[in-house]
Amino acid sequence: MKIDVSTYMDKFLDSKLVEKYSNRKDEIFQKLNQANMNGWLNPDVSFVDQILEVRDEVLSHSKCLVVVGIGGSFLGAKSFYELFTPYFKKNDFPIIFAGTTLSSTYMKELLEYLETIDFTVNVISKSGTTRETALTYSALKKLLERKYRPEEVKKHIIVTTDPVKGTLRDEVNREGYRSFIIPDNIGGRYSLLTAAHLFPLSFCIDVKELILGYKEGVCLQDDAFSYSVCRRSLFDLGKVVENFVTYENNWYYYLEWLKQLFGETEGKDGKGILPISMIHTRDLHSLGQFVQEGNKIIYETFFKINNMPICDIDGKDLHKVNLIVEDSVISAHVSGGVPCIVIELDDISPRSMGRLSAFFFLVAAYSGYLFDINPFDQPGVEVYKAEVKRRLG
Ligand code: PA5
Repeated sequence: MKIDVSTYMDKFLDSKLVEKYSNRKDEIFQKLNQANMNGWLNPDVSFVDQILEVRDEVLSHSKCLVVVGIGGSFLGAKSFYELFTPYFKKNDFPIIFAGTTLSSTYMKELLEYLETIDFTVNVISKSGTTRETALTYSALKKLLERKYRPEEVKKHIIVTTDPVKGTLRDEVNREGYRSFIIPDNIGGRYSLLTAAHLFPLSFCIDVKELILGYKEGVCLQDDAFSYSVCRRSLFDLGKVVENFVTYENNWYYYLEWLKQLFGETEGKDGKGILPISMIHTRDLHSLGQFVQEGNKIIYETFFKINNMPICDIDGKDLHKVNLIVEDSVISAHVSGGVPCIVIELDDISPRSMGRLSAFFFLVAAYSGYLFDINPFDQPGVEVYKAEVKRRLG
């Protein structure tokens, strides 16, 4: 993995700003090392064999897994699932990600669909109180109770939640459901290497490869800090929007994951960089116009993949064409006043994406500290929750 924060940056960055933020390195590394929510730096993954056992048992009695969760309790698994699921070939064991909407049409159709097939629910909520998750779980549990005998229902529910507290943990203790934990010192959006994501992902990828890559990624501290300094300096120069750009359609949810990570981490106290995303070349024919010639508030992070499956069209390898278009767009945007960061990956594999994800956890945490905010809370999310609670109880 190569992270280039200089080639397309020289004419934009101010060396005094870069120096100012680079000088905070020791202070920021120390802050992260001492943070009480830094469990994701070296997570305990000794539960993986247990996950694989439960997966095999689920495969023996169910035809699909329904994951119920939202925000940090859903996007990691969803993004990897999309990355490693074929575009068109039907998946033998589909995973449905529910719990992210209160749409009655969606819920009605989901319940009707599940009526006819054997499924297992994996409800994931650290707090156990998130309304979307709780409502969806309640509806699915009632369906399971109609379909199966009480002792069978137990086989079809797996709970991932706090190790000791919360309504879901109480339910596990009361009903004897199987459960996994999200450790106390790991927040939702930093929980990729916990059962919240590794259990659902064990149905579609080799999670041990993901773990291997992740462990490599958390060692990329210097690269992550340089990236954080670059984006923090760009912010001071009026580049307040970071556009994450992919040339692969199945990265859609990975970019949603990045937006959630940075949005919830940095957007507080009136501060932060707004994360947005584009899929090229599709979006070159829509927001591309704005990036090229519109308000100069944007800088971009391009992902470049070196090795992809060969697809020859008219004597040309399509991926080579895609890469040439990507290079051309970077040149055009830089010439239009848009600074660009380029992250190069050898391939798209559970290992390389695990590495990239851990790298971004570091970037998010360092960037939060460079803005002098707490990178691990999300007090703003509570505001709408409190208002809903006032109205709905
Ligand atoms: O990243 C976060 O911490 C949040 O996005 C949470 O994951 C999200 O709000 C869901 O919370 P919970 O797992 O408590 O249901």
